[in-house]
Amino acid sequence: MFNAVIFDLDGVLTDTAHYHFLAWQRLAEGERIPFDEAFNERLKGIDRMRSLELILSRAGRPYAPEEKRALAERKNHHYQELIATMTSHDLLPGALNALDSVREAGLKVGLASVSKNAPLVLDKLGIADRFDDIVDARQIANGKPDPEIFLTAADHLNVEPARCIGVEDAVAGIQAIKRAGMYAVGVGEPGVLTEADCVIHGLDSFHLSDYVR
Ligand code: BG6
Ligand code: MG
Repeated sequence: MFNAVIFDLDGVLTDTAHYHFLAWQRLAEGERIPFDEAFNERLKGIDRMRSLELILSRAGRPYAPEEKRALAERKNHHYQELIATMTSHDLLPGALNALDSVREAGLKVGLASVSKNAPLVLDKLGIADRFDDIVDARQIANGKPDPEIFLTAADHLNVEPARCIGVEDAVAGIQAIKRAGMYAVGVGEPGVLTEADCVIHGLDSFHLSDYVR
């Protein structure tokens, strides 16, 4: 039996994964660095500075630390412009039901997001009060695929990792869940999220009874 479900935010509960993509794309275009959806798949779940490093590794020149800081800030500015008008209507289909069904079944509900914008996005979506615990970038030293964020969430929820389900749309996120010793539900394509224990297309297909063992 499981005692907790720990959800990722971007790309799982709301489509901010697409906004991150658009913001990086705009930045890469400005720097004339090749960028597309396939490459973006490698950035999902990866924190801001490490995402930038991956993008800049495809540039034809080195970047100084202060240039990198300015670029990261610019990307965040693009991103914050895109999320400015978000409301609860931007929750993905099934998201609210999934959160409520977990709580109604008596399991703890956690959130594990490496985004520094997570508190802002949760506030816009109006769902911050639906979690027993929220772990974001400010509380961890190592981003996904390191298991730290999921292990921290499990610890805060006072649930053994083996009794947690993690829900993720990113390859790096699924790796983090598996390294934490949890059951991994992938949201997306089975051909991409190959290390997940099971893959669903979206949270409208999330049924807790499917995972009760
Ligand atoms: C993750 C996203 O949730 O947060 C990544 O999947 C993003 O794409 C990361 O880079 C960091 O987000 P932020 O808002 O701190 O730049
Ligand atoms: Mg995600």
